[in-house]
Amino acid sequence: MVRLSKAQKKELYHTIKGTRDIFGDEYLLREDFIEHAKKTASFYGFGPIATPHIERTELFEATLGETTDVVEKQMYTFKTRGGESITLRPEGTAPVMRAYAEHGMHTWSQPVMFWYEGSFFRHENPQRGRFREFSQFGLEILSADDALADALIIHVLFLIIRETGLEEVTVHLNSLGCKDCRTSYRKELGTYYRKHIHQLCKDCRRRAKDNPLRVLDCKNEQCKEASEHAPQIINFLCGVCRQHLKELLEFLDEAQVPYLLDHRLVRGLDYYSRTVFELFYESSAETAVAEPEEKKPEEKEREKTDAAAQTATQQTRKTSLALASGGRYDYLGAMIGNRDVCAVGGALGIDRIIALLQEQNIQPKKPYRPKVFFIQLGLAAKRKSLRLVEALRQAKIPLAQSLSKDSIKSQLKIADRLNVPYALILGQKEAMDDTIIIRDMDSGAQETLPFGKSIDYLKQRLKGRK
Ligand code: HAM
Repeated sequence: MVRLSKAQKKELYHTIKGTRDIFGDEYLLREDFIEHAKKTASFYGFGPIATPHIERTELFEATLGETTDVVEKQMYTFKTRGGESITLRPEGTAPVMRAYAEHGMHTWSQPVMFWYEGSFFRHENPQRGRFREFSQFGLEILSADDALADALIIHVLFLIIRETGLEEVTVHLNSLGCKDCRTSYRKELGTYYRKHIHQLCKDCRRRAKDNPLRVLDCKNEQCKEASEHAPQIINFLCGVCRQHLKELLEFLDEAQVPYLLDHRLVRGLDYYSRTVFELFYESSAETAVAEPEEKKPEEKEREKTDAAAQTATQQTRKTSLALASGGRYDYLGAMIGNRDVCAVGGALGIDRIIALLQEQNIQPKKPYRPKVFFIQLGLAAKRKSLRLVEALRQAKIPLAQSLSKDSIKSQLKIADRLNVPYALILGQKEAMDDTIIIRDMDSGAQETLPFGKSIDYLKQRLKGRK
């Protein structure tokens, strides 16, 4: 047995950095939101899929890109006793593509459309709306090259968010082209950044060589400045990619989804081709989606050395937060399987959306509001209580009860606090007689009824009461 010191015990009271407990109204709000997202996705033809929380490490290494932040620094990877390298899923797209290959879904009627929901894990620095365990609701359309599929993904994610009541959502869009146009663009961009290498932050100096596209979305002020006159991908798109983008914009116009072409949007994962997008919540007021966590001294030191980056982060806090993102990933299928699968998808960050809803004081639709408080006194009553409670459940009468040995006085106090219209009192005598006392909590009037009649009586009385 491990014996814990006092200090260790104190630590145990806290969740691990970047994770948190979810309960009460926040939990209910999430349930409402997920229900709404599932309904909307189902209406548009998406079906459910749940993939495991753990996958082979290579699945992510081979698809997300070796020089991406997720693969370089953020994966929770461990070796099993058998020596296999396993990773807690940092995202859901590669697993869905794995499932498509594994189950021979190319033989199904195409395209195959999925929604999924659940926890994902990234070892990031926790800050506003950024956790190490977070939840996404994702949509994927596999085997579809038409721009209509891209538009559908963006449209449905946009609808899901907007219909929660969050109005200030803007779609940022870009095209990263295909293998052909991206190669010449990368080359040109690499040449450009090599000329501006001294302006770039430490990370971007390396990125300029390995993956110059990533310099474009660096938040460091100096890097942003250096990128101002960088070549733009739009001027490098081949005819087919240009046409794809044009059609996508036309579909979005038709669906009345407001968008902004953002040539600096490249996304942090390597598997994207053509369409990439992010849905930003843009507000002029500073919002406190999640308290920044106490930073370790070495983290503070690192931030001090990069003052420009810090200012940039603070500015971003004031203005925008990515609620959903995604894009097309036509090459991902071939990265892990034997065939090309044109596909597009996106995922929204549930934690961020719920935090914004809470901030706007949006309440869960159906918080559990008991209508009856059940008081049982004595052993005989306790024995009978299970039968009565079950009868109330069958009659769909929401109930609360005290399971401790409180006196009738203190139990009535709880009933008062819960603001229930009725209390049911089952004492020794009632238990023997097969009766129950029904107390009107407003007037204090009490009636004793045969057990068998009490449910119908309550149903009648509660009719139409919220
Ligand atoms: P992603 O941009 O990494 O894309 O994540 C999608 C969304 O998840 C983000 O827009 C954000 O709202 C939320 N999110 C990401 N990281 C965190 C975090 N650490 N804490 C809280 N929320 C977070 C993907 O994961 C792609 N698989 C999306 C996709 C689907 N692309 C194609 N299909």
